[in-house]
Amino acid sequence: MNQRFSYIRKRHPRVDGEDKVTGKTRFLTDMKVEGMVFAAPVYSSIPFGNIRSIDKSDAISDPDYISSVFAEDIPNENQVGVIIEDQPLLAKDIVRYIGDTIGLVVTTSPEAAFLISKKVRIEYVEKKPYLSIDDSKQATDNFIHDNNIACTHQVIRGDIEKGFQESDIIVEETFRTPYQEHYYLEPQGCIAIPEENDRMVVYGSLQCPFYVQKAVCKVLGLPYRNVKVIQAPTGGAFGGKEDVPSEVCARTALAAKGLGRPVKMGYNRYDDVQLTSKRHPFQMKYKVGVTSDGRLIAAEVLLEENAGAYATLSSVVSYRATAQAMGPYVIPNIKVHSTSFYTNLPPTGAFRGFGSPQATFGHERMMDILAERLNMDPVEFRLKNILKPGEETLTGHKLHVSVGAEETIIRARDSADWSQNRNAPRKEGRYVDGIGISTSHYGNCLGAAGWHMDGSGAKIQIHRDGSVFVSFGLVEMGQGSLTVVTQMTAEALGISPERISVLPTDTTQVPDSGPSVASRVVVMTGNAIRDAAGKLMPVLISAAAELLKTKPEQVEIKNDRVREKQTGESLSFDELTEHLFVSNHPMVADGWWHVPELNYDQEKGVGEAYFTYSYSTHIAKVRVDTLTGQVKVNKIWAAHDVGRAINPAGLEAQVEGGTAQGIGWALTENFRIENGKVITPNLSTYLLPTAMDVAEVETILIEDPEPEGPWGAKGIGEPAIIPTAAAIANAVTHAIGVQMNEIPMTLENVLNQLNRSIETDKNKNY
Ligand code: MOS
Repeated sequence: MNQRFSYIRKRHPRVDGEDKVTGKTRFLTDMKVEGMVFAAPVYSSIPFGNIRSIDKSDAISDPDYISSVFAEDIPNENQVGVIIEDQPLLAKDIVRYIGDTIGLVVTTSPEAAFLISKKVRIEYVEKKPYLSIDDSKQATDNFIHDNNIACTHQVIRGDIEKGFQESDIIVEETFRTPYQEHYYLEPQGCIAIPEENDRMVVYGSLQCPFYVQKAVCKVLGLPYRNVKVIQAPTGGAFGGKEDVPSEVCARTALAAKGLGRPVKMGYNRYDDVQLTSKRHPFQMKYKVGVTSDGRLIAAEVLLEENAGAYATLSSVVSYRATAQAMGPYVIPNIKVHSTSFYTNLPPTGAFRGFGSPQATFGHERMMDILAERLNMDPVEFRLKNILKPGEETLTGHKLHVSVGAEETIIRARDSADWSQNRNAPRKEGRYVDGIGISTSHYGNCLGAAGWHMDGSGAKIQIHRDGSVFVSFGLVEMGQGSLTVVTQMTAEALGISPERISVLPTDTTQVPDSGPSVASRVVVMTGNAIRDAAGKLMPVLISAAAELLKTKPEQVEIKNDRVREKQTGESLSFDELTEHLFVSNHPMVADGWWHVPELNYDQEKGVGEAYFTYSYSTHIAKVRVDTLTGQVKVNKIWAAHDVGRAINPAGLEAQVEGGTAQGIGWALTENFRIENGKVITPNLSTYLLPTAMDVAEVETILIEDPEPEGPWGAKGIGEPAIIPTAAAIANAVTHAIGVQMNEIPMTLENVLNQLNRSIETDKNKNY
């Protein structure tokens, strides 16, 4: 529809789609290397204690045993903490959760590795573990680390005391959100190959090859030049392969180095679920004051997070949840405080949204509770307070452009026929219908806290036959990035996507580009591609001018043709690239983009927390079975301000996947740990939504271009899941008339809430 673009804003088919659906793609799990042997982790079977002894004799006497590595075999630093240095690569004296890795055994087959790892006998002196946030909070000694606090964050702006005094209605409420297991289809895996001259090549199923490079170098004491990390085709990640692969790969590399031969380690599902990170459980206290005509005046928010045994990415989650704790609304007085508590449980870390789905559950449930107290329609109440251009976010970031928040609410409301559905009769026998809304903002990229590392690169190489290779520092992990990288390169160079091939990401192609997280891949890579293309285009144009015997100003490269604008004389791109080859023109260019400087006060949490925000509104329509407690999500209207839709088909796919994951978190995924041991390690106990459980999704794309984004684009990866659970909880609340302040809304939980409301009603003497 928009003629300005040739290859973006088009529903381009996935460039890796056919190979993935026909099984041609070789994921890390499928890869084989000549002479490789197999490792498995030896890990703690108790949640907290000291290691008294390690007895390897039974393992060593097994004919399939090849070697093993423990803490004393580490040549350099025994440390793999990604932000806070609190996590040994291999536990030495102390273990802090069931799954804390103590060593690896290397054997002849994956099956033998699993069996022999269990033959290493470890004796412990047990300590009393901390198994919840409240346990951890009360500790006075016997701490998990120096103390039990992994990190804290805050926002202090305006004057909340005065704000509450000026409020007509003040509501206080508490909310709880649970763990979520990533359940990527491919568990964690790595192949480490030692090479001559003390070099190491590492293949991993991962989100950040540069993190892995750093970790391997630190542990082995090697310079970066000796370690090459290649991202293998990766079967899902969702945040679970941001930092965890650093552990997995550094341990595998340690074993490979000791042995001098390639080692592969692929976790089985059981170990993967017990050992690796999950979404942080949150408990949240909200106190919010409004005027009687429905204006937000003051909010005091207390967030408490279960960080598990190591901090990993808790500070990123805590920072983001704090900066976004009251959503995309104008509120002059606010105080947010967030604490991540260590517990003797598996570490929690990055999971699609980095704390935003949790905070959104808090503020969006609160908005509905307030609307009810005000006797206002929830949409009307949100529209009254929504952030608009010229206004400030809760951290005091004044926004001028690309603020599509209001439009997401209006477009979702209109598509969902909100008033009709909200007011229509809702009971049908034992079934009752409800509709709920949820709105959120998501700071793109790493924000002020991670600004120092928020740069990414791309490299474009042109070949003699007119083919083009693109390398980028971020990765494809299922989200469709190879397709948008292809489209954006085609657009930037004016050539057909068919000419372009995106190379596997590896640490030797582009500088450290950080992790593929925080919905930053399109924004960072698109801008880096534009930077590289900006260097190549003058070269291409001047070479074309030579061939066409005209002035460079008269040449354009568009829709895969090289044209003299006035005469219309034209060349194919191949003719131009052949000329480049023989005429000493450069055929390679690098691009780089770093997020603009942010003015932010770390102490108070005030200022530009992120350089721009994606906005989203989900409306969920549900049907509750009051006999069984089952909630069925019939439809989700998902309105997203994406700045610019690079590939509308890919965006819709992200939204459909994100809402499915949100439905799981809200309803069926009931992750349970008992005494530190995961008791829901597989799909018969941890219920991911199937095709039968997901809703019909209507995606509504809103393009309010961000001037700093490539062609105006902002991120979608995480916004796709963020508002879903709160919209469903608000819809269930609307249906059954009980405040649903805790998820997952399993059958039992819904029935308990229904019974509680019947009890309450009896007391009221209806
Ligand atoms: Mo994701 S939480 O941005 O790794």
